[in-house]
Amino acid sequence: TNKLKLVKKIIIAIDGLSSTGKSTLAKQIAKQLNYIYVDSGAMYRAVALYALQKKLIIGEEFNKLKMIEALPSVKVSFVYNKKLNISDVYLNDVKVNKAIRSMEVSNVVSVVAAIPQVRQQLVKLQQQMGIKKGVVMDGRDIGSVVFPNADLKLYMTANAGTRAKRRYDELLTSNSNLSLQEVLDNINLRDHLDSTRKDSPLLKSNDAIEFDNSQLSKEQQLEQIMELVNSCLDS
Ligand code: DC
Repeated sequence: TNKLKLVKKIIIAIDGLSSTGKSTLAKQIAKQLNYIYVDSGAMYRAVALYALQKKLIIGEEFNKLKMIEALPSVKVSFVYNKKLNISDVYLNDVKVNKAIRSMEVSNVVSVVAAIPQVRQQLVKLQQQMGIKKGVVMDGRDIGSVVFPNADLKLYMTANAGTRAKRRYDELLTSNSNLSLQEVLDNINLRDHLDSTRKDSPLLKSNDAIEFDNSQLSKEQQLEQIMELVNSCLDS
């Protein structure tokens, strides 16, 4: 008889503080398994960009009511880019890959992400992306709120110095006016806001596996994580 073994598809949730290498890892896993990678932070960044463009945030002033009212007309989506083998992020049909990585967006994204109505809208989209499984998603509340039943939950950590250096090196390629201190300040502030907000704060779920990668190369990290992934696929 022809025994056709159906390949099991799972959901992998990766959470953790800023710049702990979540997206690098998530992309690597997705590539190995031929899964879809979803960067949930990019979605919050796109909404934050919208708020800046529409001048809902000026300096310290944030018109949250207007933000909430505008939500039905804020369309965030991913479109697969065959040439580059990545997903482009769109805000109302405009590609915003670069714009969402700016320091302006980084400085306001945490207050935008703290609004429950913003979260509701994006979480719903994220859950739809997981319906067929075969997804690796990274963020802050993926294992706790978006996919509480995820097959594998990882919680990434790394020491603050390592994280600041990583983000700094990443940003330097596009913005040479930045100081390491500026980047460190932004990371610390976002970590504080993301961990202390009322709605879906960053936390380690009981069933998440904590993974500190301060001392690991990307290759070492992937090797160790793929062992976890494979044992999950075999079970
Ligand atoms: O992953 P990132 O650093 O690009 O995310 C940007 C911000 O978006 C982060 O500071 C907090 C918010 N975020 C969130 O609240 N929930 C998620 N699942 C992902 C990101």
